[in-house]
Amino acid sequence: MRRTDRKPSRKTAAALTAVLIGAGALTGPATAADRPADTSADTSADASARLDDGLALTPPMGFNNWNSTHCRPEFDEEMIKGVADIIVETGLKDAGYEYVNLDDCWALPERDADGKLVPDPERFPSGIAALADYVHAKGLKFGIYTSAGTMTCANDMPGALGHEYSDAQQFADWGVDYLKYDNCNNQGVDAIERYTTMRDALAATGRPIVYSICEWGQNDPWTWGADVGHLWRTTGDISDNWPSVLSIFEANVRLAEYAGPGHWNDPDMLEVGNGGMTATEYRSHFSLWSIMAAPLLIGTDLRVATDETIDILGNREVIAVDQDPLGRQATVVSSEGGRWVLTKKMSDGSRAVALFNASDTAQRIETTAAAAGLPEAPGYRMRDLWQHTTSHTAGTIAATVPAHGTALYRVRPDDGWAAYPPAVEVGATGIADAEAGTTSEVTASATNLGGTPARSVSLTITGPDGWDIQPTTATRAPRLRPGETLTTRWTLRIPEDTPPDTYEITVSATHRPSAHTTTTFTTHVLQPPPAGTSHISDLPWTREANGWGPVERDTSVGESAAGDGRPLTVGGTTYAKGLGAHAPSTVAFYAGERCTDLTAYVGVDDEVPESAGTVAFEVWADGTLLASTPTLTGADGPHPLTADVTGARHVELVVTDGGDGITSDHADWADATISCAA
Ligand code: GLA
Repeated sequence: MRRTDRKPSRKTAAALTAVLIGAGALTGPATAADRPADTSADTSADASARLDDGLALTPPMGFNNWNSTHCRPEFDEEMIKGVADIIVETGLKDAGYEYVNLDDCWALPERDADGKLVPDPERFPSGIAALADYVHAKGLKFGIYTSAGTMTCANDMPGALGHEYSDAQQFADWGVDYLKYDNCNNQGVDAIERYTTMRDALAATGRPIVYSICEWGQNDPWTWGADVGHLWRTTGDISDNWPSVLSIFEANVRLAEYAGPGHWNDPDMLEVGNGGMTATEYRSHFSLWSIMAAPLLIGTDLRVATDETIDILGNREVIAVDQDPLGRQATVVSSEGGRWVLTKKMSDGSRAVALFNASDTAQRIETTAAAAGLPEAPGYRMRDLWQHTTSHTAGTIAATVPAHGTALYRVRPDDGWAAYPPAVEVGATGIADAEAGTTSEVTASATNLGGTPARSVSLTITGPDGWDIQPTTATRAPRLRPGETLTTRWTLRIPEDTPPDTYEITVSATHRPSAHTTTTFTTHVLQPPPAGTSHISDLPWTREANGWGPVERDTSVGESAAGDGRPLTVGGTTYAKGLGAHAPSTVAFYAGERCTDLTAYVGVDDEVPESAGTVAFEVWADGTLLASTPTLTGADGPHPLTADVTGARHVELVVTDGGDGITSDHADWADATISCAA
């Protein structure tokens, strides 16, 4: 991604004045409203002066095209109408999704002779007002986008700086109900001033318009945003990969105290359904956003969404956590070792509790009802919001959660708790990545967390077809008293010819009164490199993470789509083989203790303009750093990097951003090879 074009240009005060005067001249005689002097609204941080307009009393829900289309041509009125149709047809509207929002690139680069914005006639031949009417006729609301700068972020259409009142009025005249106001090309004008001017311009239209502040958390908007807008982005842009979701979660989760009805932290729009993460990761993304009371803006093209995507986005029990009228954002109970416990106070006295495993292996996560903020009680009713089952617990809330997974519950004290079956926690150890043809020992357990006995408890483990999974101890117990555990041992044999890939192993417990608990683990079947020297781009990878689009094999990273790279070129030298990465990036592969030498020529790809980009390359083996480069820039030629990986099981190729953010960090592992024995 060439994010250089997104940076606000740094102009001098004189240049800024010229820009603002120029803007006035363009609109003809400047209206009083559009004069720069009118940007001097009261920006003092008076906590009581919150927007008191009754809008966004729960986090806004809806759709925005950006994450699925960016500015590509498929972003047009047919898409938006189709999405609006599907929101109604699939029941997503009834589930709460309301706003249908356009992002960047909906207008032409130039205003008309009256200073008005001109919708792109290719994308929106019927105009924006007609599109808003279409959306409204579906019982939905309509949103639009511009930037608090001279141009928007794609540098493709005019921004509203200096045109706030006229643009706001144009939006209101079209029937706009929601404005996302971005931060690009802001000419260095103070953020509070820019965003406050648009607040006042929107208010002056008299139309209720939800106002989304999108300044990426750069000016701590949580400290002033409640007086200015209804939501504010807390971070940079999300992308469709796990590291992005995790880092945004970690930043946003700390801001709980600033969120409430009418004023929300916005960790950016949803990526659920866009293909870069697993279903487990998308369920975590949706769970975490909901428990953080985040706006839920669908960011996938619903016209081609799978049933699984619609099921995740349409999970009403999870949506109810997000939309709870008390408007609390979850707080952190604990987070050691990537084992996050979050609790959200709900208006009915219950708590939503998330057990989120941020780590790369399955882990047991445990808390208690008391730690989650519930009053002492002999028993609690506990609803599993993904498995849609109800049980009771005597106080312990625990689960073995798969890597990147989230167990989400709604827990409440309930005098009638004993009428529900006891919660049975299912766990397993020993399900690990392994080579085809190997056998491992697995231990599986079922623990009664309730206050009444569980009867006829039975454990089963199932895996892919053809996998031989056999118990070596009894798998049933006639009765588990409160607190008791049934422990069982198994052998798990992976068939000889199993291709390297990710596979699911499911551990389930059944018991009476009628209940069923399941935990799914993922495991990689590993394949060591063949004897001799191999290109790392030809090997199976066990993990791949990238700051922009997927890591490409034998081309540069290119843009965000898969397969859109160019020939790998560093310092004018082109390479036929290698990896095209983008910081922050990790590619992991299995060496199986058979390999010795790793070599590559690394550097910033020449596709980055003007020698931009600063990255550093690292080679890790089983958690130990073996080799690294100094920070390299686009001006450096190919840098030879070698590492002795003798004895390593897992090797990781890591690219960091050189400490200055990820702008233009297109990083190549050119001609990356590894030598291995048989
Ligand atoms: C910025 C915003 C994104 C999106 C793009 C459009 O990067 O943060 O959400 O609106 O601009 O260009």
